Amino acid sequence: MNQQTSKIVRIAAIGTSGRGMGQLREMLSVPGVFVPAVCDKYEDRAQNAADMTAEVTGVRPAAYTDYRELLAKETLDAVLICTTWITHAEIAVAAMRAGCHAAMEVGGAASLEECWQMVRASEETGKFCMLLENCCYDRKEMALFQMVRQGILGEIVHLEGGYRHDLRDEIAYGRENRHGRLANFIHRNGELYPTHQLGPIAKLIGVNRGNRMLTVSAIASKARGLREFLRREQPADYYLANQEFRQGDVTDTTITCAGGETIHLVHDCTLPRPYSRTYVIQGTKGTFQEAPLGDAIYLDGVSKHHEWEPFGPYLEKHEHPLWKAYGKAGIHANGHGGMDYLVLSAFVDSLQAGTPPPIDVYDAAAWMAVTVLSEQSVTLGGAPVPVPDFTNGKWIDRDPFRRSVYCLEAVCEDCFL
Ligand SMILES: NC(=O)c1ccc[n+]([C@@H]2O[C@H](COP(=O)([O-])OP(=O)(O)OC[C@H]3O[C@@H](n4cnc5c(N)ncnc54)[C@H](O)[C@@H]3O)[C@@H](O)[C@H]2O)c1
Repeated sequence: MNQQTSKIVRIAAIGTSGRGMGQLREMLSVPGVFVPAVCDKYEDRAQNAADMTAEVTGVRPAAYTDYRELLAKETLDAVLICTTWITHAEIAVAAMRAGCHAAMEVGGAASLEECWQMVRASEETGKFCMLLENCCYDRKEMALFQMVRQGILGEIVHLEGGYRHDLRDEIAYGRENRHGRLANFIHRNGELYPTHQLGPIAKLIGVNRGNRMLTVSAIASKARGLREFLRREQPADYYLANQEFRQGDVTDTTITCAGGETIHLVHDCTLPRPYSRTYVIQGTKGTFQEAPLGDAIYLDGVSKHHEWEPFGPYLEKHEHPLWKAYGKAGIHANGHGGMDYLVLSAFVDSLQAGTPPPIDVYDAAAWMAVTVLSEQSVTLGGAPVPVPDFTNGKWIDRDPFRRSVYCLEAVCEDCFL
């Protein structure tokens, strides 16, 4: 589905654990991608990624354990960064300053400074820094985006979303699995993973394009889930048996926006529950609500008075043209039902076209900053803290966005003809 499939782009993969391997495999199936190098600070993981790439493409990439060496030695168009949360920005900045575009996996920022560094590196080098927020390309999110742009829910007033994912084993066994989340749950307390729902929400209400986030306030519950899980699963002398985790089991974050909208985010990863992003969109003409037993919609004057309707028929009726085209082309449903392939395709399409990606450095900085701002607010007992304007005022009058099949600002029907 890439528009410029003829142009080959050279992309190195940095961070090749579970997610990095999945994204690398997915990226190898995007037309036009060549992977000359891979990197992980663990030698075995770098070698696994090189083996897998060789198996898929017949060409073995160079394997590195130091991304600085990779950037110094390789000729690249871009890097794909799937490392730990606290290393994404550092590597993206180094890559841009070495002349490469950067695509980063999602995760929040640990400081505002790293957000500014990404913005400055991108502005000064002209290199892109795309946050790979795959949920922006989810089938349901895209259908809802189209419905909102068509005015079906009226003027948008309030939005909710969450990352509600029982990750107790993945987090708790971070040492055994050499996985990055554990240290964050020991030392931090806030909205650690905001972007899965904030990304689609921000695009829906034009954040950084005529709108912006103004304040973040957050509170956190006590932290019991991991401790109880480990006490149940492990012997009394297990090294984390008496560990106090700072990260509250459930954190609630409220964001106010210049456009008058409010956003409520929930982070909830250490208590037993099925996965959900609990998406809610409330407008003057109706409400969409993701619910445990089925997504629902209520439209004023259309739905029976005070009764939810199932969302399924609306999803079919309002299918985004990208998903229609993707369905016709044959869905690569390996990565999260297809959205991984789409977000990577969007990045590759931007590289091939030489124009900024649909989720740019201002989006990355603003969305990632919510994590550190929520940590500050939790520390201040829920007091609102201001969100920096990473666009330096350009949000009120931005250059026009690029219309494309992967556009997340508008539904560009004309690009599908
Ligand atoms: N978008 C999604 O749906 C989705 C799904 C899963 C994970 N993720 C994100 O992907 C990222 C990776 O997730 P994971 O589960 O594979 O985490 P992980 O902790 O298992 O892997 C991170 C890898 O990065 C490597 N790394 C860290 N610092 C490095 C450095 N300086 N140089 C080279 N390599 C370095 C580590 O050695 C490790 O192999 C995380 O940010 C996570 O939040 C996104």
